[in-house]
Amino acid sequence: MEYRIALLKGDGIGPEIIDETVKCLDAVSEKFGHSFAYEELLIGGAAIDETGEPLPKATIDACLASDAVLMGAVGGPKWDTIDPAIRPEVGLLGIRKALGTFVNIRPAKLYAPLADACPLKPERIGEGLDLVVCRELTGDVYFGRKWRDEDGTGHDDMNYTIPEIERIARWGYALARQRRNHVTCIDKANVLETSRVWRETFERIASEYPDVRTDYLYVDNAAMQLVLNPGQFDVIVTGNLFGDILSDEASCITGSIGMLPSASLGDTSLGLYEPIHGSAPDIAGQNKANPIATILSAAMMLRYSFGLSAEADAVEAAVSAVLDAGHRTGDIAKPGETILTCSEMGNLIASAI
Ligand code: IPM
Ligand code: MG
Repeated sequence: MEYRIALLKGDGIGPEIIDETVKCLDAVSEKFGHSFAYEELLIGGAAIDETGEPLPKATIDACLASDAVLMGAVGGPKWDTIDPAIRPEVGLLGIRKALGTFVNIRPAKLYAPLADACPLKPERIGEGLDLVVCRELTGDVYFGRKWRDEDGTGHDDMNYTIPEIERIARWGYALARQRRNHVTCIDKANVLETSRVWRETFERIASEYPDVRTDYLYVDNAAMQLVLNPGQFDVIVTGNLFGDILSDEASCITGSIGMLPSASLGDTSLGLYEPIHGSAPDIAGQNKANPIATILSAAMMLRYSFGLSAEADAVEAAVSAVLDAGHRTGDIAKPGETILTCSEMGNLIASAI
């Protein structure tokens, strides 16, 4: 069977990490006899430079016609001063919305050989760290109206509808049932009306899943708990803005933001897969980036969009094997350790597959 994969390389380190990921997918196709057809499309700053807009209609149409979308990253200083309505990030938010990918799954797992890269004391990690941030992705203050008054006052409308909360809550519970049956709902219901609706809706949905334990935390406390005792979390379910912030925090506990993949899904199998990190303009074009977050995102694509779990396992096992063997990019290396380039890391993982 042929799988059509839309490649959105984007900006900064985006092209480098996607190239290494394609190498790994090619290794999968060789080993398992699949055929992957790639189509490269413009998004972000690269699209602005070429077409004047961050998300050309041709990109949306081709993504909608594909089986899955694999993305690098968008943005960079070059486009920081342009009209905010056409910033590179608008392209990213636009493609998430266009694909209807309302849930963003961000697993944060500490790989044993990277324990030294974790900034927390070993006793805080205890049994290890294996949690998933389940972030709502197409609502919240990200997509509310934005405007300025004549006196310059800025506004961003934060809103959540009940159906938006119900569907992400159900996703979180379904995920928890495949894991350790524990959901932590994170909001700011002591202050925000959207969060009060969020929590009331959550409590109602929670009663449909009596086999799953539900905890409720305010986001400020959750930020603290993540560094004090991250082992207490299994599935975190939260809104778009809080999920953005908490997933960066969760990622650095695993040693490096360069390790964390994500899958964005909606009602169909068409998913959007991207590392949680950004375009890292400071190291772009230098063959220094860690491609692992994107390679692991491709593993999620194999699993969730294509139903190829043995293939996904093979990619994840290859990453573990390469880390076990002591290979490191700069972000996860200890002082004095040999530092691999992005393409050396990609080659090693591809051959391990
Ligand atoms: C992320 C990023 C994006 C977000 C930015 C680049 C718009 O931080 O995917 O976490 O805020 O969602
Ligand atoms: Mg972010």
